[in-house]
Formats: sequence, C-alpha cells, structure tokens
Amino acid sequence: MTANPYPLGLRLHGRRVVVVGGGTVATRRVPALLDAGADVLLVAPELTPALRAQVDAGRLHWVPRRFEPEDLDGAWLVQVAIDDPMAAASVSAVAAERRIFCIRADDRTAATAWTPAVTRHGPVTVAVLGGGDPRRAMTVRDAIRDLLAVRLGSDRTASTRGRPGSSAGATGGTDVVGATGTAGAGGATGAASATGAASATGAGSAGGGRRAGRVVLVGAGPGDPELITVKGWRLLTEADVVVADRLVPGLLLDELRPDVELVDASKIPYGPSRAQEEINQILVDRALAGAVVVRLKGGDPYVFGRGGEELLACAAAGVPVTVVPGVTSSIAAPAAAGIPVTHRGVAHEFTVVSGHLAPDSPASLVRWDALAGLHGTLVILMGLKNLAAITATLIAHGRPPQTPAAVVQEATTGTQRVLRSTLGEVAADLLAADLRPPAVVVVGDVVGTLDG
Ligand SMILES: C[S@@+](CC[C@H](N)C(=O)[O-])C[C@H]1O[C@@H](n2cnc3c(N)ncnc32)[C@H](O)[C@@H]1O
Repeated sequence: MTANPYPLGLRLHGRRVVVVGGGTVATRRVPALLDAGADVLLVAPELTPALRAQVDAGRLHWVPRRFEPEDLDGAWLVQVAIDDPMAAASVSAVAAERRIFCIRADDRTAATAWTPAVTRHGPVTVAVLGGGDPRRAMTVRDAIRDLLAVRLGSDRTASTRGRPGSSAGATGGTDVVGATGTAGAGGATGAASATGAASATGAGSAGGGRRAGRVVLVGAGPGDPELITVKGWRLLTEADVVVADRLVPGLLLDELRPDVELVDASKIPYGPSRAQEEINQILVDRALAGAVVVRLKGGDPYVFGRGGEELLACAAAGVPVTVVPGVTSSIAAPAAAGIPVTHRGVAHEFTVVSGHLAPDSPASLVRWDALAGLHGTLVILMGLKNLAAITATLIAHGRPPQTPAAVVQEATTGTQRVLRSTLGEVAADLLAADLRPPAVVVVGDVVGTLDG
C-alpha cells in the first residue's frame, strides 16, 4: 500500500536548491524556485536560452557539466529535471544517502517529493496533489482556481476547462474563438477580420470528429505573472503547444500541464527575420496538425511584438487566430515606477517609440526631430543602447535638457529598478547606475508629477 504524501509549504528563501538538467522541465520549474527566494544551483552541460538569461542576470548559479555528488553539499532540496533514468536514479541515490528530498521529473514513483499543481492568488497559494496523477491534480487545481475567480462571472465556465483534445476542450475553444476577434481562413481578409465579426467557429467545428487547431496570440503582460489578462490566462490553460518569448513571466510556464509542448522562441537560431519565419512556420504547422497553439508574448502582442506578422502568416495558411491584448510595458513600466503617462494639466498625449535604431540610421522610421517638438510624454522602448544619441537628437531639436526623465528596468518584477534623471543627464546616469534591458525610458513632465 502506498501511504499518503504529507503536504508541506517549503520556505526556501536563501536555501540551496539543486536543479539537475537545463532543458524545458528545468525552464518550467526554476521560476517558482526563484520566486520562493531559493538559492538555485543549476547543474547541466547546456541550458535553454531562458535559463541562460536567468544565469546572465545573476539570479542563479550554473555549473556547466554533468552532476557530481558534491553538488548536493549544503542542499535542502533537489529537482531532477533530466530524462535519462540511469542518471536521474544516481542523483536521487546520492540525495537519499544525504537525506535530501528529491523531486524527479522522469519517475514520480521513485521520487521522495512531489511538486503539486499550483494556483496563486496574491498571497494565497493553493497546491494540489493528485495521488501521483498529475492530470487529476491539474483538473482539481483548475476547478479551485475557477472557484477563487468568482469575480470573473459566467464567461469563465467549467466548459472551458476541458482537456484539449476532449470534446469539452474543443467546445470551450470554439466558444472562445467565436467571442473574440479572429482572423478567419479567408487569407487576405485575415487582418481585417481580426478586429471584426468573422469567426473561426466554422473552422473549429469543421471536420466532424477531428478538432481543428488554431493559434492564440496572447499578451503575457510586462513581467508580473498576475498581469496577464483573465482571457489570456484561460486560453493558456487550454493550450497544447505554447511558443514563448524570453520576456514572458516564467511563473506562467510553471503552471502549464506537463504534457504541453513548450517551444522556446528565443532558442530558434538564425537572424531575426529567419527566426520569425521559423516561428510562423511552427505556429502554422502545429495548428494545422490540430493543436491549440498559444503564442505567448511579453507585454502586448502588437506593440513591437511582431504579432501582426504572425497573424498574417496564419491567415495566409488558413489557420484561425484569436488575439488577446496584453498589458504593455510602455504604459505599465512607467506606472509601476509611479509615473502616469498622462496627467491633467501636465501631458495630454503620450508617444511610444522604439529606440532600437540610432536616430541617424537610414533604416529608422522615427522622426526624432518632430518628436522633440512635442510637449507630451515620450516612452522609448528598446532604447538603452542608443540613448545617448537619442537624447542628444531630442535636445538638438528643441526639447529642453532639464525635461524630467526616468528609466524603469524589469518593471513589475521583484527586480525592478528605477532611475530618475533629466533628458540631459539620463544617458550618463544610466551607465553609472549600470541599468540593463529590458527597460523603458520615459521623458516628460509626468516624471515626478506624483512625487510628494
Ligand atoms: C520587443 S519589445 C516588446 C514590447 C512588448 N510587446 C510590450 O508591449 O511591452 C521589448 C522591449 O519592451 C520593453 N519591456 C518589456 N518588458 C519590460 C519590463 N518588464 N520592464 C521594462 N521594459 C520592458 C523594453 O524596452 C524591451 O526592450
């Protein structure tokens, strides 16, 4: 007889947790460990780009080789995230010898600890164990999450909770698509119908028994996992495939079902345009094979997110698309730093602009000289590298150097940093403060408006 597990809430802050493996399982598990404040040591010869970004940002330690027993020195917990059963067994044998609890992605029956299905609501965490059956745990977790989300009303019904592939899942999906702007299978009309009444309902119910695939472009918000929209979250829970950008909040991935295929879009090789073609192809291929594909993007999919290109590629292939807008960093990052992008009597307009090209670049589409003549708020994304040239251009064309300016790095996350300065000084201050992307630069009198 198997005894019941004993539930615990581990307080891992500052405590060493060793993660063995650097693939997609580790990519999904590490964010929750970091969120718990664990001192994570990752042991793996290679890492996904998402994990690499965590290492580069100094959030965890990486030992770039295979596991050795001394890696467990000082550890409180081990997560084995490799699919080689022999190697996994040898890690768990060392853990058992040292009385360290060991979670095993490859074999739950051999593990000494299980990770529950989790739903988080502010300070409340609900963790569900399904008696060794992760699907059962997810189903119960989803039901609890729905109960906790009573504010959401009748739109968020149990019908949308069915497993993708089941008839309940297909019904829920079709219902969602019908209620949302979609790009129909009409090719050229795809972009227009993305805002209109054309629906993929027909495509969703076509084919009799076989469920039709589709793509959902979901804005994941700026960084705080709670800033995804209700609709975006619901559709994410219905996904068979999730194609995620590097900037999406890692905790959202932690809550996916284990059978969801996670494609790390930042891992796709080639230059930006070839990589985008690859992503488009993945979206189309998976959807045509019948999958519900969620393309999860940081912020809003249509704000410097290439969402439009993906919608057009899907429409051209006859794949229905739902677009779920997201909370864009261009507004949320200033807000998180206490800066409203407009304020009565201070700024009656705000302009969002990309600074990824220098003002004198022949490829730039931005009229920096014209922007310098505006009185309102300027929000610059992807502008750190060119900030000295951008600020100099704005000043040269008339924007006063004493105009207040701010930089907000990693807004809405636990590592948010804010620099306050002026247009004339901000580029130098940025270097001195060693701020890094992702960051938003705000220029205008709204910076400081709410300061006491
Ligand atoms: C490719 S753009 C994508 C923007 C995204 N679609 C949006 O609506 O927020 C990436 C840029 O967004 C900004 N950004 C995204 N997330 C951010 C965050 N949490 N804090 C500050 N800036 C952020 C940075 O300027 C970053 O270089």
